[in-house]
Amino acid sequence: MENKLIELIKSSIKAKRNSYSPYSKFKVGAAILTKHGKIFAGANIECASYSLTICAERVAAVKAISSGELKFKYIAIATNKKQVAFPCGACLQFLTEFSSNLKVILVKSEKEYKIFDLKDLLPQNFVL
Ligand code: THU
Repeated sequence: MENKLIELIKSSIKAKRNSYSPYSKFKVGAAILTKHGKIFAGANIECASYSLTICAERVAAVKAISSGELKFKYIAIATNKKQVAFPCGACLQFLTEFSSNLKVILVKSEKEYKIFDLKDLLPQNFVL
């Protein structure tokens, strides 16, 4: 696997350290590789008013977007549990906005991961 993707996977694993998840104790780290080769990482942020929680994928995405990076190539997602976690439906729709061909890497460890096409995870998205 190319070096940049190894770096991306490591970033997702590292990012979950900053997860703020006192309610679920489910830590998620996400790292996005943009079209211009930049990496933006984020973690899930929970709130006592549960529904205000923001997923790691969208935290990473808004960091990239607000830095002027609007096209994503890969997103790597790591958790503190044994099982890998697919992005939730809201995140899939959000990510679709910034890439039609995004590849989603579900990370178990630095050496164990699976790659999916966003299109396969969300075959039909809402279009305005
Ligand atoms: N979570 C994510 O960060 N990404 C997802 O795609 C699904 C869920 C977080 C939100 C919450 O902090 C915790 O996982 C449990 O739902």
